[in-house]
Amino acid sequence: MRLVADPITVRVPAKVNVYLGVGPREESGYHGLATVFQSLSIYDEITVEVSERLEILGAGKWAELIPTDESNLAWKAATLVANAYGVEPHVRITINKSIPVAAGLAGGSADAAATLVACNALWGSSLTHEQLEEMAAQLGSDVPFMLRGGCALGVNRGDVLSPVMTRGIFHWVLATFREGLGTPEIYARLDDMRGVDFDEAPSVPNELLAALAQGDSSALGAHLYNDLQAPAIASRPQLGQVLEFGAEHGTLGGLVSGSGPTVAFLVDSEVAAIDFVIALMGSGLVDGAIHAHGPVHGARVVPT
Ligand code: C5P
Repeated sequence: MRLVADPITVRVPAKVNVYLGVGPREESGYHGLATVFQSLSIYDEITVEVSERLEILGAGKWAELIPTDESNLAWKAATLVANAYGVEPHVRITINKSIPVAAGLAGGSADAAATLVACNALWGSSLTHEQLEEMAAQLGSDVPFMLRGGCALGVNRGDVLSPVMTRGIFHWVLATFREGLGTPEIYARLDDMRGVDFDEAPSVPNELLAALAQGDSSALGAHLYNDLQAPAIASRPQLGQVLEFGAEHGTLGGLVSGSGPTVAFLVDSEVAAIDFVIALMGSGLVDGAIHAHGPVHGARVVPT
């Protein structure tokens, strides 16, 4: 008889918002969004195993940047699942990070989504996907999408999702930076730039949805858009130079990912992606360049 459950590992991808329309600031402090998420093939791996207490260990390339206390969303995720099972949240969560931290790629939200899935598997898999989605929404606006993956329209705070049809594979190059940007600060800067009278509700253009449905990278490149791009560039003017560099090098389009600072470029093939990674690394404008493709599936248990 097995007395202790085997460790569970979950793989979870990063995301880019191919469209991010932001409405006025609401009384709650949040902004109404109309966004289209696409999950990207850069993965964190989260392993949970029974332990004497709740603890978080960092591993991988960005290990030293991972908070190991309750400020990590993964900590809160484990606690939520434990409460639902009526057990103590006594697990060791090892976060093997490949998704850049504080980058606009939802790495922290990804780890929280993966922890929900892993703890559910560890304690008996009796929670439904709907229950996990509800917990995800409590943890943060991006967490429900990180659970689901693929391509989805997000409204409300970005947490109310519906699937978006896509065809084929889109190739991306991500320009990354060692130093992150703070999401609340970028939203606040957008509010300042717009002034108090701004009252336009955001909506996703049909042309962008058609480009995704047709698998048309050129059309998608032409319709990439992010309301947080202007405040991100105002905070970090170098991002504007990076976007210009991409335009000069024949990418199909580029935009700041989420609240930045990562800049995501769409290119038309894997070969073009590799060429552009090399060009970006030689530009002296970025700290890293990563080739990824999307959409890919969301948080999933890795079979042992
Ligand atoms: O939901 P989450 O905790 O990830 O949001 C982080 C911050 O981003 C919020 O505190 C808020 O400042 C900003 N935000 C927002 N409107 C949204 C989503 C996030 O203002 N729809």
